[in-house]
Amino acid sequence: MHHHHPGHRFDPAKAARLLDRQWRLIEDPLELVRAMGIGTGMRVVDLGCGPGFFTRAILDAVGASGHVAAVEMQGEILDLFRRQIAPRPNLEVHRADLCATGLARGQWDVAFLAFTLHEVEVATALEEINAILADAGRLIVLEWGPGSLCPSRDGGEPAGPPADHRLAQEVLEHSLAEAGLVREADGQRLGGCHYWIRAVRAIR
Ligand SMILES: C[S@@+](CC[C@H](N)C(=O)[O-])C[C@H]1O[C@@H](n2cnc3c(N)ncnc32)[C@H](O)[C@@H]1O
Repeated sequence: MHHHHPGHRFDPAKAARLLDRQWRLIEDPLELVRAMGIGTGMRVVDLGCGPGFFTRAILDAVGASGHVAAVEMQGEILDLFRRQIAPRPNLEVHRADLCATGLARGQWDVAFLAFTLHEVEVATALEEINAILADAGRLIVLEWGPGSLCPSRDGGEPAGPPADHRLAQEVLEHSLAEAGLVREADGQRLGGCHYWIRAVRAIR
């Protein structure tokens, strides 16, 4: 089984698209994050949060009794985030590499990554995620399936990154196993164009 090697970093000039539900092919991000297992009162880290499309839904899902940390490396994208989501007591925003977040260790119920893990060195990211999660914490990943399963945009290329940038579910699951994480639930959207996995620490 091979490992995934990151191909590119998201172009900040395209960040505004990430707020467009139609472009995202995601009509209801709140329903989706709830379906993935995010609920009231949870402490969630949104790693590679971008301009906050999912961060907003996560804030709604966890409510005032929950807590959210948003982590993003690119300052220009965080500027857009800050224009979208007003400061609030249960939100912390960090400009950091998700592979070295500086966040509190062993404290988080969920580490959430939407369309971000394919941009980073997976094993390094999983090491950091294992360190920040609480013992019973969960990792939730939402990623692109194969382009052949994705609708084309304006009759052209399929939605999503080029083929060699996509992180296949079986490749991800292999990396999860190596990091001591096992799949607890998964799902598909748009006929497999998007997939998600929720994973938990293996009992050792
Ligand atoms: C395709 S965007 C998705 C953003 C957001 N999760 C969403 O779905 O709307 C990927 C984001 O991950 C960020 N990113 C990539 N590598 C990162 C890293 N090592 N640390 C923090 N953020 C990173 C990029 O800057 C970009 O904003």
